[in-house]
Amino acid sequence: MAITNEEVLKALDFVIEPELKKDIVSLGLVSNIKTQGNTVSFHVKASNPAMHYRKRLEEACIHQVRRFLGEDVAVMAEVDALPKSAERPPEQRRILPNVKKIIAVASGKGGVGKSTITANLAAGLASMGYKVGLVDADIYGPSMPLMFDVFNEKPGVAGEGSDNKIVPVENYGVKMLSIGFFAEANQAIVWRGPMASKALSQMFTDVHWGELDFMLIDLPPGTGDIHLQLVQQIPLDGVVIVSTPQAVALADARKGVGMFKLENINIPVLGIVENMSWFTPEELPDNKYYIFGKEGAKNLAEEMNVKLLGQIPLVQSIREAGDAGRPAVLQETTPQALALKEMIGNILESINIK
Ligand SMILES: Nc1ncnc2c1ncn2[C@@H]1O[C@H](COP(=O)(O)OP(=O)(O)OP(=O)(O)O)[C@@H](O)[C@H]1O
Ligand SMILES: [Mg+2]
Repeated sequence: MAITNEEVLKALDFVIEPELKKDIVSLGLVSNIKTQGNTVSFHVKASNPAMHYRKRLEEACIHQVRRFLGEDVAVMAEVDALPKSAERPPEQRRILPNVKKIIAVASGKGGVGKSTITANLAAGLASMGYKVGLVDADIYGPSMPLMFDVFNEKPGVAGEGSDNKIVPVENYGVKMLSIGFFAEANQAIVWRGPMASKALSQMFTDVHWGELDFMLIDLPPGTGDIHLQLVQQIPLDGVVIVSTPQAVALADARKGVGMFKLENINIPVLGIVENMSWFTPEELPDNKYYIFGKEGAKNLAEEMNVKLLGQIPLVQSIREAGDAGRPAVLQETTPQALALKEMIGNILESINIK
């Protein structure tokens, strides 16, 4: 009886991709199956390009096909490597395979409102029904516990054996993790480089994140070690740059955009959010005062050929909402909430989900 493609697939069902820890058939790694008489050939993609890794996978394929279809079957398995992590579909990733889109929020300069924008983006997406996770990667100055009113909470731990992992804290439908949860209030966190780097990795790998539509990452200011580690380890789908219209902030934002666009980093810049675009006093809601300059980030976006994702006013209630731990985007109809929602719509468009 001639061998069928279905029989080959059934046999390959028993081959587990060592790093992705799932069978190669359901991961979609098998293609080009051909059978002729007693000869079977197919292509397989491996998550690791190393020669010995691909060889081992090839041997496992040959072993399983022969086990099911007969020791005399001639098997030709061609194993080559998958593209790098960020270019693979999520299920073929080693890190965060159950997360559809991973977006980092960055700025060049500090204090321009990165964390405020991240918190509002996260809470806004969750209120639209998306499943959202948030990593506060600012391990030297974490803000998320306060901005989500969960600074008194501690993440739990659940699961047996290698599944024993951290359970994120949740509020407003956003699952989050921050170094802030593991430190006492008022206690400065002093990290040595390697410790900081390990803590950051663990926030992605040793956590029960579950299935997520979006994972957002609030970065520390600048373009330092944490940023480099992140772009190397995490398959980022895009980055949002935050800047005020002020010249010094714009100069740093330009460096930020430049870093993500570098050839060997090459992460899509989804666009720039201009924060603190103008000041509007509560008692004069129609007045706009351009205290940091007018449309600086808009001009930068044009100059660098990236999108302007939004212009968010400087209003007291955004700061108050942050301090009170209830992101302003949840206010429904205030002008600032509307500006934040428009920004979220543009980010969704930029990442190609509507
Ligand atoms: N649009 C805004 N209107 C009013 N206040 C704002 C606005 N955006 C941010 N703030 C306030 O400015 C301060 C700095 O914002 P935030 O912490 O978000 O900046 P950051 O870029 O994350 O800072 P860092 O570089 O320290 O991480 C906070 O007190 C925040 O509440
Ligand atoms: Mg911050």
